[in-house]
Amino acid sequence: MRRWICPNICVQGRHRGNVLYRGKRKKNGRGNFRIPLSLPSIGQRELNAAAKILESGQYVNGEEGRHFGAEFAAYCGAKDGIPVSSGTAALHLALLTAGVGRGDEVITTAYTFVATIGAIIQTGARPVLVDIDPMTYTLDPRLVGNACTRKTKAILPVHLYGHPADMKPLGEKAEKLGIPIIEDAAQAHGALYEGKKTGGLGTLACFSFYPSKNMHVGGEGGIITTTDSTLGDKIWRLRDHGRKDKHVHDLIGFNYRMGELQSAIGRVQLKQLDAMNQKRREIAVHYDSLLENSRKITSPMEQTWARHVYHLYVVRCQDPDKVGNTLARKGIETGAYYRKPCHLQPALQSRVSVPNKLVQTELASQQVLSLPIYPGLSKSAIEEVVSCLLEIRS
Ligand SMILES: Cc1ncc(COP(=O)(O)O)c(C=O)c1O
Repeated sequence: MRRWICPNICVQGRHRGNVLYRGKRKKNGRGNFRIPLSLPSIGQRELNAAAKILESGQYVNGEEGRHFGAEFAAYCGAKDGIPVSSGTAALHLALLTAGVGRGDEVITTAYTFVATIGAIIQTGARPVLVDIDPMTYTLDPRLVGNACTRKTKAILPVHLYGHPADMKPLGEKAEKLGIPIIEDAAQAHGALYEGKKTGGLGTLACFSFYPSKNMHVGGEGGIITTTDSTLGDKIWRLRDHGRKDKHVHDLIGFNYRMGELQSAIGRVQLKQLDAMNQKRREIAVHYDSLLENSRKITSPMEQTWARHVYHLYVVRCQDPDKVGNTLARKGIETGAYYRKPCHLQPALQSRVSVPNKLVQTELASQQVLSLPIYPGLSKSAIEEVVSCLLEIRS
């Protein structure tokens, strides 16, 4: 059985007791944290997989990437999976593969990490930003119809915090318009919509393996999954300089490859993903029960059609920055995703269209606070976080 460990100390196998890397406390601009917001898990199996690649000398374009792609696609119920260098690279390639380019529009949300919007702009297209459903923080399907024009080339929902977007009405809209759905699943590995996994719900889907995500690859990484195998073929080529075979390049592509080391670690992590998500769900249940009677803190919710994987555990309260700063002084790290939504970002403001006011987006951005969550978070740490939180809010 795998044990969930503090990443600093190896607790099993030959390296038991060794310090894997320095710095027991996580530091950022606000201080020194006893209870960090997130921690990547690492065990002996990842170390063994990494050592095997380092010893092999085959660091790129080997078998690990092909296996990881196939295994991840099978996990999602998709036809193909193409490992790439980051979630941002995944979004860029997925959009290009869907034929999005100059003069086009893509419907999405402002309540996301800036990479979602940046990738659309990089293709030459214009993001059209629609408000969120305040319960799930994801694209409100009721508002999509009005935002569509004859330039609309794709709909790009973001499965935020680990909760899937409401895909059925979005899919119906996309089908009517004859355009693809591209899922941004960077925060929702293993989440379910009506019993089906994210990554297999649209034409294309993009995941990130940034170290704080529900699974990681020991560095930067991402993956594109597709339910259309003809698109997969093109993406494999685009990520490798448009290479058709060793000497022939029939597309202008990129170097968006994922290294073999990352793919090998990803294969190990994928096997643990369901167990890690289950741990996250147990932590969320514990938080929920401790916060149940608080009238000042609103816990996250899970729709009946969804299985949330709690990439983040996000509560709502008044004055979240003040609360966050007080918790930081007690050694507890919190997050604010996203205090400044994309339509208010200086680099993006003039590059996006906002057909209607983003009322729920702006309200959420002023109230959200992410509490620590990762599979190794102890019960006593959860209880300490909540008791500090309730003390501040009493
Ligand atoms: C919703 C969302 N989209 C895209 C990305 C970009 O992924 P990456 O950091 O791997 O480029 C992230 C990463 O945090 C994200 O959260």
